[in-house]
Amino acid sequence: MDSIPVLTIDGPSGAGKGTVAQLLAHRLGYHLLDSGAVYRAAGLHSLNAGADLTDEQSVMASLQSMKAQFKPNPDGVQVLLNGVDVSLDLRTESTASAASKVAAMPHVRASLLDEQRCFRVAPGLVADGRDMGTKVFPDAHLKVFLSASPRVRAGRRAKQLKDKGIHVTLESLIQEIAARDERDSSREHSPLVAAHDALVIDSSDMAASEVVEQILTALQVEAG
Ligand code: DC
Repeated sequence: MDSIPVLTIDGPSGAGKGTVAQLLAHRLGYHLLDSGAVYRAAGLHSLNAGADLTDEQSVMASLQSMKAQFKPNPDGVQVLLNGVDVSLDLRTESTASAASKVAAMPHVRASLLDEQRCFRVAPGLVADGRDMGTKVFPDAHLKVFLSASPRVRAGRRAKQLKDKGIHVTLESLIQEIAARDERDSSREHSPLVAAHDALVIDSSDMAASEVVEQILTALQVEAG
């Protein structure tokens, strides 16, 4: 077992993983891995390289020329693709869609494993994603699976979109989220499931700070 501690936080989008992971990394003085950004970088690079996103070989060929750098900053992470800052492009819907297509490809997932494991640097790492505890860091010191009801996640997403001036109905978002959950949980490679030894937290009625406290308490119990 690698002695550098890792704390993994997996779960569906909108469960609050990003916020909780950032707060925890700050409290513990650990490094942070936003693995979604790694998949988004791969999706964006494949898109920019003109790869056919329905063809795994084409995507794999395009990834040969990808040089990604991830630099943490107070807002999350700054991402450079072949020297160009793509932090904003990474958050667009077209990048999210490209990311979800390449994330379903087993060779792509395998090729990004080392990229993600390189983040395990002293004094420790908080890693958030879908398969951090099940696949990337199966020997993590504490695994958390963070969920929330589709209605609550849709409400959080609607608020984020509203802040950007985009208005959508809650019902359509709930349906979208339910469809994505079904796709993510039933895919063949690294599906979204809680690790058997994960601490499962439903954040529907909790503030991010309460989730953080619950995880810190579990860490102390684990260490003691
Ligand atoms: O969390 P996010 O929205 O930034 O993730 C972007 C895409 O990458 C999303 O389709 C899920 C996928 N992903 C994954 O398959 N495995 C991970 N560990 C992280 C993200």
